[in-house]
Amino acid sequence: MGNKLKRNLIDIKDLSVKEIDELIKVANDITSNEDKYSKLCDGKILATLFFEPSTRTRLSFESAMMRLGGKVLGFSEASTSSIAKGESLRDTIRVIGGYCDIIVMRHPKEGAPLVACQKSKVPIINAGDGGHNHPTQTLTDLFTIQKEKKRLDNLVVGLCGDLKFGRTVHSLISAMSRYKNIKFILISPEELKLPDYIKEEVLDKNNIEYVETTDMMEYMGELDVLYMTRVQKERFFNEADYIRLKDYFILNKEKLNSAKKDLVIMHPLPRINEISIDVDDDERACYFKQADNGVYIRMALILKLLEVKL
Ligand code: NCD
Repeated sequence: MGNKLKRNLIDIKDLSVKEIDELIKVANDITSNEDKYSKLCDGKILATLFFEPSTRTRLSFESAMMRLGGKVLGFSEASTSSIAKGESLRDTIRVIGGYCDIIVMRHPKEGAPLVACQKSKVPIINAGDGGHNHPTQTLTDLFTIQKEKKRLDNLVVGLCGDLKFGRTVHSLISAMSRYKNIKFILISPEELKLPDYIKEEVLDKNNIEYVETTDMMEYMGELDVLYMTRVQKERFFNEADYIRLKDYFILNKEKLNSAKKDLVIMHPLPRINEISIDVDDDERACYFKQADNGVYIRMALILKLLEVKL
């Protein structure tokens, strides 16, 4: 496979809005015609290189490739690979590129997948780089919002929790800033506010309306989407800070009394305490559907990056 045609997904902006719409169309079609897609990746191999823990992202990619008739290999812990012997990421990627057709990687260092794609013969998909980006979670989120609300514009989107380290939030803001009439309600403790670089380079630059609050109830009645997130323990330097902030927001049934009847409640998962389990039965709770949707949109993405003719 030649380098010049290789497409990667490092940042959600590597895909145009039109391409995202097409991926959502394909994911919808796969949902209703799975058989049609079941052999399209026959003979292809996907490698999952996970240098950080994961359940959904890694297994949904593996499930996606298997449902397309392809095969998977990889590791879920750097300690079981030659990284533990001191091998550089560049060398690991060069070698693994010879064993597979596409690589999905998660790494604790911001920018690692970008470095990797410069060394790789095969497409690289960023499955999360530190507290930076998580574009395939965003595809899952957009697919879910489109399914539930039937639109990706004209929405008031509340993002609640760890907006500082939450990479899913960073990628989702970047993606949604390209749709019309989006207003963000940024709900976080003072210490976990959205980084200035995102406010300046994404929100202000594109004239996107947003407000910041430390009170999850202040705008509850206005929200079309409420995106809850976990406080990112692994990015804290100080355990006392984590313990102080981890239960800052807990969504429960009672807090939803003032919310819209057609609110969409999302969470990339894993949830710790941010959503109490009494919300799970509420019709507005979409986080498990969101996790299911991840497989189909990842199938669509693999097909696109492998340039499989549909
Ligand atoms: C998220 C992640 O890894 O950033 N998880 C996921 O991929 N679904 C969210 C999180 O870990 O809090």
